[in-house]
Amino acid sequence: MTDFLAEAQSLFEYTQSLRRDFHMHPELGFKEVRTAGIVARELTSLGLEVHTCIAETGVVALLEGAKSGPVILARFDMDALPILEETSVPYTSQNPGVMHACGHDGHTAIGLTVTKMLLAHRQELAGTVKFIFQPAEEGLGGAEGMIAAGVLENPKPDLALALHLWNEKPLGWFVIAAGPATAGAELFKIKVRGKGGHGAMPHLNADPVLAAAEIVTALQSIVARNVPPLQAAVVSVCTIHGGEAFNVIPQTVELAGTIRTFEPEVREKVLERFKVIVYGLAETMGCQAEVDLQRLAPAVINQPESAAHIAEVARRIFPDAAIDTGDYVTMGSEDFAFIMEKVPGCFFFIGSANKEKGLDASHHHPRFDFDEQALPRGAALMASTVAELLRDKSRKI
Ligand code: NI
Repeated sequence: MTDFLAEAQSLFEYTQSLRRDFHMHPELGFKEVRTAGIVARELTSLGLEVHTCIAETGVVALLEGAKSGPVILARFDMDALPILEETSVPYTSQNPGVMHACGHDGHTAIGLTVTKMLLAHRQELAGTVKFIFQPAEEGLGGAEGMIAAGVLENPKPDLALALHLWNEKPLGWFVIAAGPATAGAELFKIKVRGKGGHGAMPHLNADPVLAAAEIVTALQSIVARNVPPLQAAVVSVCTIHGGEAFNVIPQTVELAGTIRTFEPEVREKVLERFKVIVYGLAETMGCQAEVDLQRLAPAVINQPESAAHIAEVARRIFPDAAIDTGDYVTMGSEDFAFIMEKVPGCFFFIGSANKEKGLDASHHHPRFDFDEQALPRGAALMASTVAELLRDKSRKI
């Protein structure tokens, strides 16, 4: 059996230099022109047929095994975040205000490493690997764009896989959950419209500040009183804007925030209660509310069989690793869920924090950085999983 961990470790400098280069030149969603250019250049140099500009900046390459068989999609995201980097590493962002603060630089480097390794083992593969390098994962619609551009057709994948470096857990740790892995997310905006006027004469006005305050408080009753205690949900009001002067009741107040859920029935219940509370309270307070709800991503629910397979591979490659197969889920969301709505698969996490080296800031933090030893680990786990699935005739995908 191929030792993909040894191969990934021998490619460490390749992976690390790509990762550091992407880190120094981060690009926001749908603007990953330089990153996608490097991805396309690397894939082309390997001799693969490469398709570029899919959903603006996405790149797709097919790796056909020596024999026919199932099609596995492996997805890697490429976008950075609008954050001013505060690390002092030599590969710090050269693009002020834009930062790879989620590890997608590592994912892209891992993706290229996996491609290189699997290509070297093409003769042993019975099936096809569809590599997709995706733009705009951070809430901008990259996965939906790639789907609309047809990446799930010609050939149609039988299984979809993706990984995420995970600084919430240390290096040496994996989570490969059979079932829910990341939450479904909605973005909401509320406009509470009242009747502005003199702050000293509230009885002549309809105060949207007070109505907004009531709404913020009452929204917390949804999780406390409408969601079954053993099921999870989050309702967070994250911005509140209204008013200009200390003695003027404003005309409108605007709120924005996010809702997170897993089960469709919980999501439905939360959204229903959300609207009843917002409209009802605004009306009670003599105001009117407008609600704008946008779905950012569904929940990622892993297929139990592929999760079990990946966990088995991980246990073999990393006998000392802590492998969590289900007790850990994150309320964070992931747009790979749009792909997983159409293709069964698994989204798994590679622990990447190292407290001793000071590499343990959370994702989306201005000092985020991870232990690069996680790169070969992620590449080895992805490559081994795919190779085994395309080799083992007895295993049904
Ligand atoms: Ni991410």
